[in-house]
Amino acid sequence: MQTLRTVAEVRAVVHATRERGGTVGLVPTMGAFHEGHLSLMRAARDAHDLVVVSLFVNPTQFGPSEDLAAYPRDEHRDARLAAQAGADVLFTPPVGEVYPDGYATSIHVAGITDVLCGATRPGHFDGVATVVTKLFGIVRPDAAYFGQKDAQQVLVVRRVVRDLNLDVNVVACPIVREADGLAMSSRNAYLDAASRERATALSRALDAAESAVSSGQTGAHELLKAARAVLESAGIEPEYLELRSADDLALVDAVAPTALLAVAARVGAARLIDNRLLEAS
Ligand code: PAJ
Repeated sequence: MQTLRTVAEVRAVVHATRERGGTVGLVPTMGAFHEGHLSLMRAARDAHDLVVVSLFVNPTQFGPSEDLAAYPRDEHRDARLAAQAGADVLFTPPVGEVYPDGYATSIHVAGITDVLCGATRPGHFDGVATVVTKLFGIVRPDAAYFGQKDAQQVLVVRRVVRDLNLDVNVVACPIVREADGLAMSSRNAYLDAASRERATALSRALDAAESAVSSGQTGAHELLKAARAVLESAGIEPEYLELRSADDLALVDAVAPTALLAVAARVGAARLIDNRLLEAS
């Protein structure tokens, strides 16, 4: 695996692959790799001749009071793990390579970014949409791999691709969890032992709603009540706990026939998110 830091170097490798008729898969990341990230790399490895993993802690998607400076960084470890997962290129540019002086363009996706994480993180999805669009322009991948863990991010990227006619297949991969259900996240590193224990309540709350659906309850009120009870018993007050359309994030009042149950909560020093696609039988 090569570690590359400039747009020109990445373009040269991609160009050589295309000349040979090969396909290119892109996995955008901010590093601090765990099994969630590695699952995306393996999925890309299975499908493409060239796998490019980008590692860029994108400053434009962090709010002024967020954890940009503290975000976990260990390029050496990440490079080893990416190589083991089958990446060919680790693209890890300095900030000035991505946002040179005079940079003046940004992508704003209206509507679906007003809710859920977008409501409390103003500008966050503009930063995501902008950097992902830039990565698509740099790598010009056949497909790009994202985790369903960030369900709203997947919808934002799909909307950019559709609205701007980008020729990229957006692949959403399943949420990878710890043995006790906690969705893997680089931010889990901020949890002390007691918070780590309480954090399992997020996935258990989603489990409770899923069980309620299995037993025939499909109304938002009952499902949210079941999920909220689990959070409350762990002393967690969610930032949001909402049932929304999995297509456009509109609020829905029932699982009919599917819906996305999404939760965000601060647990100890970490802000955690999780979600579950519910399906009525
Ligand atoms: P990051 O948080 O590093 O995540 C990179 C990718 O890994 C995202 O697509 C995310 O959804 C996926 N991922 C994270 N945890 C996962 C889990 N437990 N299971 C499955 N996939 C998981 O998301 C970002 O970076 C950035 O916003 C980025 C898209 C790179 C733009 O800067």
